[in-house]
Amino acid sequence: MSILIKGGHIVTASDDYVGDIYAENESITLIGKSLDIEADRVIDASGKYVIPGAVDPHTHLEMPFGGTITCDDFTSGTVAAAFGGTTSLVDFCIQMPGETFGTALETWHEKIDRCKPVIDVGFHIAITDLNDGGTLEDLAKVPDEGVTSYKLFMAYKGAVMVDDETLFKVMRVAADSGALVMVHAENGDAIDILVKDALAAGNTEPVWHARTRPPITEGEATNRAIQLARVAGASLYVVHVSCKEAIDPIAKARDADWDAWGETCPQYLFIDETALEKPDFEGAKYVYTPPPRPKENQDELWHALRSGVLSAVSTDHCPFNWDGQKTLGRDDFSKIPNGGVGIENRLHMLHHFGVREDRITMNRLVELCCTAPAKFFGMYPRKGTIAVGSDADLVVWDAEKELTISAKTHHSNSDYTLFEGTEVRGAPELVTVRGQVIVDGDELVAKPGAGQFVKRATFGDALTA
Ligand code: URP
Ligand code: ZN
Ligand code: ZN
Repeated sequence: MSILIKGGHIVTASDDYVGDIYAENESITLIGKSLDIEADRVIDASGKYVIPGAVDPHTHLEMPFGGTITCDDFTSGTVAAAFGGTTSLVDFCIQMPGETFGTALETWHEKIDRCKPVIDVGFHIAITDLNDGGTLEDLAKVPDEGVTSYKLFMAYKGAVMVDDETLFKVMRVAADSGALVMVHAENGDAIDILVKDALAAGNTEPVWHARTRPPITEGEATNRAIQLARVAGASLYVVHVSCKEAIDPIAKARDADWDAWGETCPQYLFIDETALEKPDFEGAKYVYTPPPRPKENQDELWHALRSGVLSAVSTDHCPFNWDGQKTLGRDDFSKIPNGGVGIENRLHMLHHFGVREDRITMNRLVELCCTAPAKFFGMYPRKGTIAVGSDADLVVWDAEKELTISAKTHHSNSDYTLFEGTEVRGAPELVTVRGQVIVDGDELVAKPGAGQFVKRATFGDALTA
């Protein structure tokens, strides 16, 4: 199968030019001007952008969490991702209590074998327990499976939270094994006390989710993780940064050239804490962690994205239905499963409110959503850019296409979306994964199983062939 995309406005993290892209046998083999070459399919992209397929390094598909299970599996989740221009994702494989890392990975491989993703998929391993099942010796070998990032939760006490001893031990293994350490940075011990106090005082509504997780608990944990990573000699990536208190220690680390970086997510750029006050328990839709913050943090986050203090934008797609899942916490905000729906709308939102409204350039959008995630997570240069030899993961992006984001039309299984009713201009016209068209206009044309498992390189190494 060969494909020729002609006359598009090609945008990478660094370049911006009009040209043709020819792909054969899954990868890009030629880029040039007015290429005179036959192809099985020729696509006229004049007037459109052609960008690398986006990489989402933070998703939770079919994940047991908060007493239930996320409502997108690797079929619905990857279809939704594809419609938003995402062609690779890295999902969190969670070690269940008492489980070995090998068993956890087998469980996640079984999910993708059964659900047949339409985009390419990698895994992180989330370490929840080193006392029973998981050993440091086994953890050191996990990168050999192409799973080259270790995730730890510094919150969710009594569930997946780890203590500093575990965090530090894992960091020391990572320093040797070449894995990137990822942290959910919040002070889970302090939050647990604040939650218990709120409930004891009869405060049960969704807004207490934010009131019991103040920004300083995120800032403190972010700084703690950065300092422990320095002692251990590990490289650190802080997920879902939501506020100034967490930006500041990352800014200090970037300035000092320490090996610590951070991402944010659209829900922190566009939704503030007042969403939790929506009546009739609608506020529960916005119970994700860290919580939506006071609005002034949004400018801080945009500034951090522009200045390079924050390096990437992921979705932290952790979808639940409002009806039947979020409603588990009707009488107790701490029982609302934590997570939001966003896998399909990252590029829509960043293009419309970021690029069109001059907050970031199109190059920076590509860097934040495609190139940087591919580099951090060992997928570059196969993923995240447009170059000869890269996988032909491409998005023909129509900057004028109008879309009203809605749960009525999105492709996630969730019965709601965080951005309901938002009108955006700019959406994918065509999406390819390794040269196969998977989305054509508004049609899904992917064959089930079009996506493959990606064995990722260790942190800082290139992924070739
Ligand atoms: O609320 C969230 N973010 N749920 C998913 C798990 C996590 O903390 O990333
Ligand atoms: Zn988290
Ligand atoms: Zn997450």
